[in-house]
Amino acid sequence: MRVSISQIKEMKQRGQRIAMLTAYDYTTARALDEAGVPMLLVGDSLGMVVLGYESTVSVTMEEMVHHTKAVTRGAKQALVIADLPFLAYHLSTEQALRNAGRFIQEAGAQAVKLEGGVKMAETVRRIVDCGIPVMGHIGLTPQSINQLGGFKVQGKTASTAVDLIRDAEALQDAGAFAVVLECVPAPLARLATERLSIPTIGIGAGVHCDGQVQVVSDLLGLFSDFVPKHAKQYVRLADLIKEAATSYSADVTAGSFPTAKESFAMDERVVEEVRRQLQDKN
Ligand code: KIV
Repeated sequence: MRVSISQIKEMKQRGQRIAMLTAYDYTTARALDEAGVPMLLVGDSLGMVVLGYESTVSVTMEEMVHHTKAVTRGAKQALVIADLPFLAYHLSTEQALRNAGRFIQEAGAQAVKLEGGVKMAETVRRIVDCGIPVMGHIGLTPQSINQLGGFKVQGKTASTAVDLIRDAEALQDAGAFAVVLECVPAPLARLATERLSIPTIGIGAGVHCDGQVQVVSDLLGLFSDFVPKHAKQYVRLADLIKEAATSYSADVTAGSFPTAKESFAMDERVVEEVRRQLQDKN
């Protein structure tokens, strides 16, 4: 049975912490799903860690739908949340509804995520009214990177901290089922977590959030351009990939791959017959 929105909300009530990871393809989604991760986010971070863009602002709806389809084919149990990319929900409520609807109807996701608090509350309300669960995202919102002036911790002053709490409450009032807090001081995330009845999912927001989300490429040590302070590499897959590729190249060059074990045999008599027939034709 797939994890439901009400189960995620109940986890907060029971004090059970919620793990969420990003996923961008079928194979990884399948492994994360089999590992029992309850929520998979097809984050627009895909632009940076999979497609090699400089920021998430270049990511398009088409790219998100393509990757969401791959993830939903792999995830049988996890709740799959698709990230509405930059300018895919700002132009009008109609645009936001159409794009949120595409993720559900066309790509098979169960929920969508969007960035912004008070200013986005009405859009969240309208999407939720259509029956589409919405996860909010406040604090460091990478789609506004040009306005924020870089990947900086948010809510460090009293007034920006109060604004962040107001944003979180506006999302909850609008019907969001959870809210991501990205790069906010741990005491502020704790305050938000205590004030909200919906789960807070932190990334760089300390241990007091109801759940945590990480970019899977950071967790696996796959993305080596930079490692954010809030990330923990559980393995260093990029190094393992380099090692494997170096050994493979050396084997091919030396003629030691493939061996008989990786090859398909053929009856020697058939081979002889083929040779004979080819000679006849010459
Ligand atoms: O795009 C993403 O991966 C995200 C997470 C960092 C929350 O939005």
